[in-house]
Amino acid sequence: MTAPLNPTDLEVLLDFYVASGVDAALGDAPVNRFEESAHHAARAQARARAAPPLPAAGIGTASSARPPVQGQAPQPPRPSPALARPGSSAPPHSASASAGATIPGDDVVMAAREAAGQAATLEALREILAGFEGCNLRLTAKNLVFSDGAENARLMFVGEAPGREEDAQGVPFVGRSGKLLDQMLKAIGLAREEVYIANAVPWRPPGNRVPSPQEAEICKPFIRRQIELVDPDVLVFLGGASAKLLVGTNDGIMRLRGKWLDYQTGSRAIRAIATLHPAYLLRTPIQKRLAWRDFVKIKAALDGRVQTDVDPT
Ligand code: URA
Repeated sequence: MTAPLNPTDLEVLLDFYVASGVDAALGDAPVNRFEESAHHAARAQARARAAPPLPAAGIGTASSARPPVQGQAPQPPRPSPALARPGSSAPPHSASASAGATIPGDDVVMAAREAAGQAATLEALREILAGFEGCNLRLTAKNLVFSDGAENARLMFVGEAPGREEDAQGVPFVGRSGKLLDQMLKAIGLAREEVYIANAVPWRPPGNRVPSPQEAEICKPFIRRQIELVDPDVLVFLGGASAKLLVGTNDGIMRLRGKWLDYQTGSRAIRAIATLHPAYLLRTPIQKRLAWRDFVKIKAALDGRVQTDVDPT
């Protein structure tokens, strides 16, 4: 029989489990997780019914108080199954990470759509996302990584999901990839403060694994609403994952990059382009020349210069 672990070893072991995405313990007796999650959903609904509604606008700061997107009247938020009141969610990275876990399904995606649609401002969207319990990634992440940069930016970037450094600071693209992105921006005469940066998935997947298709689908309504509220002139997908999720293509990034696309917000089309992810460029520096071509196109679009879509690569 193995000796019981001392508290330090136990902590190391638990850290390893969390980093590996192990968020439920196996016991001697089988547990019906479907029953558990139905019970959890019923409790969440009861809590939501008992809770006063979230404030509609007005949560926003002066800088975030943009008018609602054309054609969409702001609606007072209504509680939804996976939407908890701000402050009522389990503390992030809690020891009992599996306690609030849900089994993702269409109802969670619907709840995410409903919740995201309630946000009239970026600040309101951040609040709603912080209280949204439908994505299990929030249980292992330290922080929600919502955005960085200027809310009225003409240029918006969407990455895949935060890494360790981003999770620790609650800010997207601050690690090595972020430093490279800053350099690439500088190369076209822009500072990070002038652009808006977000991720398709706003919580770090454990151990930096790729977000599952369900996790990405659950988070999609929030990033879609974020794009709609920022309403940039040019949208840039950093890497194939965000482009595929948001444009709905199966093309690989090498085929997709450098071509102008139309991103449909629902009320208008935004000029969009995919480029290589900075993390990939760090691993494959030779490809920086392709990213540079994409950035030159982006700069020309911002400057209103006429471009053809002919790419020599
Ligand atoms: N990679 C991403 O896709 N997003 C980040 O925020 C950091 C690294």
